Amino acid sequence: MKRTEIINALQLTGEGQLINVRGWVRSRRGNKNVSFIALNDGSTIKNIQIVVDLAQFPEENLKPVTTGSCISATGHLVASQGSGQAVEIQLTELEVYGTADPEQYPLQKKGLSMEYLRTIAHLRPRTNTFGAVFRIRHNMAMAIHQYFHEHGFFYFHTPIITASDCEGAGQMFQVTTKNLYNLKKDEEGKIDYSDDFFGKQTSLTVSGQLEGELAAMALGKIYTFGPTFRAENSNTPRHLAEFWMIEPEVAFIQKEELMDLEEDFIKYCVRWALEKCQDDLQFLNQFVDKGLIARLESVVNTEFIRLTYTEGINILQEAVKNGKKFEFPCEWGEDLASEHERYLVEEHFGKPVIMSDYPKDIKAFYMKINEDDKTVQGTDVLFPQIGEIIGGSVREESLDKLNAEIARREIPMKDMWWYLDTRRFGAAPHAGFGLGFERLLLFVTGMQNIRDVIPFPRTPKTAEF
Ligand code: 4AD
Ligand code: MG
Repeated sequence: MKRTEIINALQLTGEGQLINVRGWVRSRRGNKNVSFIALNDGSTIKNIQIVVDLAQFPEENLKPVTTGSCISATGHLVASQGSGQAVEIQLTELEVYGTADPEQYPLQKKGLSMEYLRTIAHLRPRTNTFGAVFRIRHNMAMAIHQYFHEHGFFYFHTPIITASDCEGAGQMFQVTTKNLYNLKKDEEGKIDYSDDFFGKQTSLTVSGQLEGELAAMALGKIYTFGPTFRAENSNTPRHLAEFWMIEPEVAFIQKEELMDLEEDFIKYCVRWALEKCQDDLQFLNQFVDKGLIARLESVVNTEFIRLTYTEGINILQEAVKNGKKFEFPCEWGEDLASEHERYLVEEHFGKPVIMSDYPKDIKAFYMKINEDDKTVQGTDVLFPQIGEIIGGSVREESLDKLNAEIARREIPMKDMWWYLDTRRFGAAPHAGFGLGFERLLLFVTGMQNIRDVIPFPRTPKTAEF
């Protein structure tokens, strides 16, 4: 018999029709006459209840139907007597696909800690919380593609293996087929990569931006959506060594339009979650973060604050004068710490902030330099709970200025020739940004740790699964 997914079965009203559902048993309880199986197949957070008449199915046959086991259940769909569900299934036929020994199956109890669940990341998608998170993750990916497609952007695939360091922060994982036990070095003791797979030193990309810029200089509006890698030793609830980034790049726009795009895009994604992920959000709102839905609604309905870095520093210094204590100092020229970002967003404004025009020395080489020669046209979006969710900028399109900046920072020019060609041939004003997919998911799900919004997190000293 054809399987009905539980999400669809729960919508059916036809009294008495015979259907088949398949899934994993969440629990089984009952008395000596009847047994109730709560079954979940991942199509929705909701379980369907299967009612077993023990006169027809002796308890002995139900023994293998324990929490975590996988079954196929056929029966008549009837209105439910109990509260909590409209319909249930009166079992007529049962097949056990796979048992789960109650002595060994780890997901027996409710309320297991997030830390513990991370150690069983291969099983945690079967919990309500992670089922909700990963369904929302899928929906957000769909929202992103839909947004850009609707707005005329082309999805452009940039390489994962690269020979350039976009952010210039030296946080790259090397890619090599060299025998590390027997490395050939030159007279200066440097490793000779000429006989390595690519004939040069290569790494996993930290960002698809540089190639994205090339594409925008041909297709006008593009976006990337792929994995990026950073070997930064940041053991925080907001950093991963492997994360997914969305990077639109647009020709012919300036700073204001870039900020408009950042704000419009992020609101679209949050609105999508509110519209399409109601059941999962309700669950997370109830069990993970009571303020979640209110926060999502508020972001969709408020205009983001736009302020320059310099204005931000002034507000922070004013706050310090009035007795606010920060762990880190906030001096003009220094990067904001996350406590500073959160003060501005959560306490001072109570709204998302798009901060722009940062000191050039705390930002990457490609950002457009302002006339003051001190600041660059970076445009980061700072969010409640998260801090930086988007990093963006207008790009420097002048070949001379870009060359001067590359020289000042001592970036090896020969590796950049292809990037500089975009400034040599038909240079155009352009701008773009990168949204950290998992940072967006932290916000949308209300989860506290970035390790819990990606199926298999990679962080310092962990690459299990
Ligand atoms: O600010 P970042 O470093 O900007 C770039 O990489 C630019 N090339 C993007 C562009 O303009 N096309 O990173 C962009 C975003 C951050 O705002 C943050 O959301 C996320 O990527 N991010 C991380 N997310 C998880 N773990 C990490 N280690 C992250 N580092 C950055
Ligand atoms: Mg950044």
